[in-house]
Amino acid sequence: MAAATSVKDALRSPEPRESILVQGWVRTRRDSKAFSFIELNDGSSLKNLQIIANDTLPNYSDVQHLATGSSIAVRGRLAASQGKGQSWEVIAEELTIVGRADETYPLQKKGHTPEFLREIAHLRPRSNLFGSVFRVRNRLAYAIHTFFQERGFVYVHTPIITGSDAEGAGELFRVTTIDAKSPPRTADGQIDYAQDFFGRSAYLTVSGQLQVEAFACALSKVYTFGPTFRAENSNTSRHANEFWMIEPEMAFCDLGCNMDTAEELVKYLITDIRSNCPDEIELFGKFVDKELMARLDFVLDRPFQRISYTEAVELLLKSAQKFEFPVEYGANLQSEHERWLTEKHFRCPVTVFNYPKEIKPFYMRLNDDGKTVTAMDVLVPGIGEIVGGSQREERLDVLEANMQRHGLDPADYKWYLDLRRYGTVPHSGFGLGFERMLMFVTGVSNIRDVIPFARTPGSAEF
Ligand code: 4AD
Ligand code: MG
Repeated sequence: MAAATSVKDALRSPEPRESILVQGWVRTRRDSKAFSFIELNDGSSLKNLQIIANDTLPNYSDVQHLATGSSIAVRGRLAASQGKGQSWEVIAEELTIVGRADETYPLQKKGHTPEFLREIAHLRPRSNLFGSVFRVRNRLAYAIHTFFQERGFVYVHTPIITGSDAEGAGELFRVTTIDAKSPPRTADGQIDYAQDFFGRSAYLTVSGQLQVEAFACALSKVYTFGPTFRAENSNTSRHANEFWMIEPEMAFCDLGCNMDTAEELVKYLITDIRSNCPDEIELFGKFVDKELMARLDFVLDRPFQRISYTEAVELLLKSAQKFEFPVEYGANLQSEHERWLTEKHFRCPVTVFNYPKEIKPFYMRLNDDGKTVTAMDVLVPGIGEIVGGSQREERLDVLEANMQRHGLDPADYKWYLDLRRYGTVPHSGFGLGFERMLMFVTGVSNIRDVIPFARTPGSAEF
């Protein structure tokens, strides 16, 4: 028997075919006088393939009871379709029922809320919306690799289990094999992690940055792209406890070069998805976010607005907008502030740079003013922060002083300091939140709906 053809390939066949095998799940079925129409979907495309099952099929009485969600294999003829909106259909010569579904199948034709669909995260990829989200997720990952590979970046696999808190924010999930009921104790009664599996405390990584810096200081242009974990109790539509991050790191690159790369990457990804997932983007534009297309075009057409943190604070203070959180120099920009800048004021992506050193991590390079560091955040309409990065502190003495100021012990970061001890170079990098980027290109407003099985506070099902 010939190999099966995907629905996607069948629909774009250049000519009719005498014999074809297709397989997938029944989306809908309706009966006419002497035949049954089946809409078949196998997830290869948003579009279904229409199957015509004639009453001459030996198992026609079974076919007439085929319910939504059943899996079937169909052998037959690919012929020009009489129906509207499709070029080809399959006239079944043999229809095998592979697995039945009954009326308890939760994805019946009616519309479902995203909340309900989250409870059936194992079945939701069979819906049009989520099938589309996850095809775009796949393409986005591919495009990210293409972008960096075409520009000579080397892909580095940074560790998932690590001993260092890269962000110094203490949002770590501990990795341990210590028996919670009877942990070994030190003389002063603390749990003795020196007796733990790795002979020390270990955690799930919050960022691959520190390790990828080591590789940038050897291979020049590198990136890591993998899962990261944060034990932050933020129950928002933009935070997950397990998310993926793209972290490029470039030797001999300053803040300006870093901002250019981030902007180029975001634009490249939008262009790639627009041209490679047109059906999906059309669906999102119709059913998820009517402004989507216009917003994506708008972002491509213009340079991102660049302003310093100080200018941003001045604009926010001058604005007539009532904010829930007060705006003051030296405080973090809240999501509502970021969104005002990008959605209301500039109405385009905004790169904010040079933040006060107190509110940014220890590794950022101190500016000559002694007050600010070379941080940069890219903010986009609808989401807020999508990229966070900086030029790194490459001067050993300044870095050690930064660490002390942040209450970190330089002895814990000896290997990281070595990068400054031996052949140090100016270098920069950033982290692009993969899910936030996916939310931006799809218009999907909750991060839980762009992750196959999301992990958020109080929820680790599946
Ligand atoms: O700004 P962040 O915390 O930066 C870093 O981790 C740096 N080490 C990156 C670097 O310079 N190499 O995170 C970077 C991006 C954010 O801008 C956001 O898009 C995303 O990661 N992000 C999250 N996405 C989903 N859920 C969360 N809890 C996230 N926290 C950060
Ligand atoms: Mg950040």
